[in-house]
Amino acid sequence: MSDLQERARELDASDQLAAVRGDFVLDDVVYLDGNSLGALPAHVPGRVEDVVRRQWGELRIRSWTESGWWTAPERIGDLIAPLVGAAAGQIVVGDSTSVNVFKALVGAVRLAGGPSAGRDEILVDASTFPTDGYIAASAARMTGCSLRAVAPGEVPGALSSRTAAVLLNHVDYRSGRLHDLPGLTGAIRAAGAVSVWDLCHSAGALPVGLDEHGVDLAVGCTYKFLNGGPGAPAYLYVRGEHQASFDSPLPGWNSHAEPFGMRPQYEAADGAVRGRVGTPDILSMLALEAALEVWRRPDVSVAAVRAKSLALTDFFLECVGAYAPAGRVETVTPHAHAERGSQVALRCADAGEVMGRLIAAGVVGDYRAPDVLRFGFTPLYLGFAEAERAARVLADTLS
Ligand SMILES: Cc1ncc(COP(=O)(O)O)c(C=O)c1O
Repeated sequence: MSDLQERARELDASDQLAAVRGDFVLDDVVYLDGNSLGALPAHVPGRVEDVVRRQWGELRIRSWTESGWWTAPERIGDLIAPLVGAAAGQIVVGDSTSVNVFKALVGAVRLAGGPSAGRDEILVDASTFPTDGYIAASAARMTGCSLRAVAPGEVPGALSSRTAAVLLNHVDYRSGRLHDLPGLTGAIRAAGAVSVWDLCHSAGALPVGLDEHGVDLAVGCTYKFLNGGPGAPAYLYVRGEHQASFDSPLPGWNSHAEPFGMRPQYEAADGAVRGRVGTPDILSMLALEAALEVWRRPDVSVAAVRAKSLALTDFFLECVGAYAPAGRVETVTPHAHAERGSQVALRCADAGEVMGRLIAAGVVGDYRAPDVLRFGFTPLYLGFAEAERAARVLADTLS
């Protein structure tokens, strides 16, 4: 056994989260794509079966009240809240991340006063996940704002009395870089602008601190580190102090103060409900609710997950450094813990083909054009021996 294999064995033996793996359906593939689609929690199929057969099949329409379907978006929002540092009553679950980016960004411009108040510019993360950029462009056109792409680190210098809203990714989807949410949020607030954070790659992987750091609005998906399943609904956070003035650009009947009043005039509901649009996607939503139960285990906490995530990514980087042929890959993910999310990104000229070979050899990561290999580390179900094996197989694949 090599030194690194021996270290992996020791690290696994002292891992406080090692037992959580048993709560997931996994095999001997090294699954490093939980930053794209989290693995299946073992009890979810049984819960979905109950929702379909009993709640839908037997109770039918009664389930909207008797099975708690109608209130699921806020109830599940309250399960996500502690994972992102939010007090209850500020998060609603539903729709896709893209749709929530739209609601949040247009809502942010409206909160800031928009062009009529001299706030006519939106700043967007220059390296953003594409959907946020496309939606920001449309939101800018609709609200009469101009749109400027700025690297997150340069946002403080780009803010002005014209800035209405700033849309940033907490962790960069390609590089795995963690941006300074507290510092940037403070600068945005000091400039009188409204912050919107995309938490897709941070929620469930590291502490976010929405309330503590004064974040105005945030969105995120639930199918990555929250393991909610393919296409699981996203969520929207509207800070408590903004709820009464949040003016959603998608005021559907589910966010009406009296949805069954069937009134021709819209009147927004109070609280997190205001972020809803139409009928919630109950099957996906209740699968997500079941998946979130893993966070109730006494041994699971965001702090424990973060500590293991950093240990796993450090160890993987060390193994890649030891095993990979010189000059074949370049680390894109920052080495500094304060700047690292829960993935390792390696630049490699033939990344697409390399990832194809890796997957065939039982190590599943993914590839982002044009030249990035991504390895996501979900601390709830990954171990150090797997990190070592992945680096070893990668090295074989590269030589
Ligand atoms: C940062 C970020 N935002 C948004 C999305 C996707 O949005 P949607 O859930 O609407 O597909 C992703 C998907 O990977 C993402 O990484």
